[in-house]
Amino acid sequence: MRMCELFDRYFARILDGEGVSWGAARALGSALCRFGPMRTTVGSLTGSSEEGRGPRDVAGLAVPSKVGPMLLDFARCPDCYGTLSTQDDQALVCESCGETYPIVDGIPQLVGTKSAINTSEVETQDYVTDFYENLRYKLPWARAYHEHTLREMLALADVTGRVLDNGCGNGMFLERLVQDSRPGTQLIGTDISMGMLEHAKRRLTECGSAISITQADACRLPFADDSFDLVFARGLLHHLPDPAAGAREMARVLRPGGVVIALDPNRTLISELPRRLLRGTSHFDEDHKNFTVRQMRRILTPHLRVDEVHHVGYVAYPLLGFPDITNFGKVLPLGALAPSLMKLDDVLARVPGVRALSWGLMVRAVAD
Ligand SMILES: C[S@@+](CC[C@H](N)C(=O)[O-])C[C@H]1O[C@@H](n2cnc3c(N)ncnc32)[C@H](O)[C@@H]1O
Ligand SMILES: [Zn+2]
Repeated sequence: MRMCELFDRYFARILDGEGVSWGAARALGSALCRFGPMRTTVGSLTGSSEEGRGPRDVAGLAVPSKVGPMLLDFARCPDCYGTLSTQDDQALVCESCGETYPIVDGIPQLVGTKSAINTSEVETQDYVTDFYENLRYKLPWARAYHEHTLREMLALADVTGRVLDNGCGNGMFLERLVQDSRPGTQLIGTDISMGMLEHAKRRLTECGSAISITQADACRLPFADDSFDLVFARGLLHHLPDPAAGAREMARVLRPGGVVIALDPNRTLISELPRRLLRGTSHFDEDHKNFTVRQMRRILTPHLRVDEVHHVGYVAYPLLGFPDITNFGKVLPLGALAPSLMKLDDVLARVPGVRALSWGLMVRAVAD
């Protein structure tokens, strides 16, 4: 066995072990997250002097208050999977069980009573929305990095038919999909965080797209069986309290032969340490996880056939990808370095031994 694999396994066991106190480490992580010298706040970009939770930049949303008729073809009550119809423009009603679902700012809230939602995860996501919007997907070198991973995901699938961005966040990927999909492709975005969805709705309205945005729980998707040709789950599964339930739902809503492309953090010593430090801080709920390749396969395979696993992200990933957590752009010329760092990552992904130490796992799986 290679040295680095031994090293990695050894530390994975320590990290899993009983009796390791992470309390002090967490406190340190929390302090770094709050006061770290390289920490950038949304306030510092928006002109607000207040750090952290500022007013969300979603005022003046010009969104239609109607649900597209196409959505009603395949949207279902998340409680009983009955068909839905519109009840004035303010709500949808289940024709089977009578449950009503409000439409807020043009976004149907299709989360039923059977969802076990982790409210602290939703609060965390509502909170980080502005950091995604104003840092992660705005700083040019960070955006360039994420577009690089989006291209890698797009290379694994043909974007055509009906496509779901499951856990779409602030809609940055959907915006990209509008440009990269074939004519006639129907794009749908779902997320649990209304903070994220409000930005997604605004972004997609601004780019003139007819994408349907819906609040939904990935563990109880409000769609009929076999509705989709392709599902993207970028950074979603590791946020779910029950990732296997999320995988089962993706398989259910995919037609036979439909494809899932998932991206989640790879579990190695290198990724586990900062995650442990930051978990439970304002940016990471306790539910936040990362997966070994074996765990990822175990989550997906009862319902889907995994046919490709790619390791992604080495040096560029932490330096460029997460300025909302630590902004290395304050101490490094990342604008100039970004292209080389991304090339370096692509090279490292091909080096035996090093390859397995990636920060991310990109998986392609097929519904049978
Ligand atoms: C790491 S973010 C990724 C967002 C987006 N896909 C992207 O790449 O920017 C994880 C997303 O999963 C969403 N999420 C967490 N739990 C969820 C759930 N139960 N159902 C649907 N979305 C969920 C969060 O609100 C958040 O937008
Ligand atoms: Zn119902």
